[in-house]
Amino acid sequence: MKKILVTAGPTRERIDPIRFISNYSTGRFGYEIAREARRRGFDVTLISGPTALKTPSGVKIVRVETALEMREAVLKRSKNADCIIMAAAVCDWKAKKPRQKKIKKRGGKFVLELEQNPDILKELGRRKRYALVGFALETEGLEKNALKKLREKNLDIIVANKLNGNKLFGSNNIDIVIIDRQGLRARFRKKTKKALANIILDKALNFTI
Ligand code: C5P
Repeated sequence: MKKILVTAGPTRERIDPIRFISNYSTGRFGYEIAREARRRGFDVTLISGPTALKTPSGVKIVRVETALEMREAVLKRSKNADCIIMAAAVCDWKAKKPRQKKIKKRGGKFVLELEQNPDILKELGRRKRYALVGFALETEGLEKNALKKLREKNLDIIVANKLNGNKLFGSNNIDIVIIDRQGLRARFRKKTKKALANIILDKALNFTI
C-alpha cells in the first residue's frame, strides 16, 4: 500500500510564553488532500500545525507546533514515504531568542530579532526517494516564482496560487496553477479544494516509483 505523507496548517513560532508569530493558514487544503488520499485506500499520515479542523477518518495524525517540530516529524517519516505533499504554511522566520518570561511594554518600542527557519521542503528535495509536491503562495510573479521554487527545491510538482487580499485562506473556490518538473503547466479556475486535491494526487502519483 502506498504511503502518503501530507503536511498542513500553519506553524507557530514562540516569542514569549504568551505570544507567537504565525500566518493565516487554516489547513483546509492539506486536510482535504489527506482525506482524498485516504479515500483512495492509501496509508496516510498528516503532520499538522495548529488548526481547528477534524482529522479525516482513517488518517494518522501527528500534531506539531513549530517549524522545527514539523521538520523533525517529517524527516523521521520521509524514509518510508512514497509521496510527500508539503501543503503546510511553514513560518519562514522564528524569534532568535524566545523569551522565558512575558515581554513587558517598556519604552513604547520593542525590536524582535528573527532568524530563518530551516526549509523542510528543500531538505526533502536533497534526499529524494519519493514523489515530492510543494506549494507556492505568491502575491506577484506567480508562475515565474513557482517555477524557480520547483527547480531550487527539486520538486516533481508545485501548486501555485496567487493571494488577492486575504481571500484564499479558508475559502473553497480557488484558482491555481500546477507546474511539474517537465515544465508542463495546468491552470484551474474556481475549483473546490476537494477537486484540486484529487488533481494533485493524480499528478503526484505519476511521479512515485
Ligand atoms: O519558499 P516558500 O516558503 O514560498 O515555499 C513554500 C513551500 O515550501 C511550501 O510547500 C511549504 O510547505 C514549504 N516550506 C518548508 N519549509 C519552510 C518554508 C516553506 O518546507 N521553512
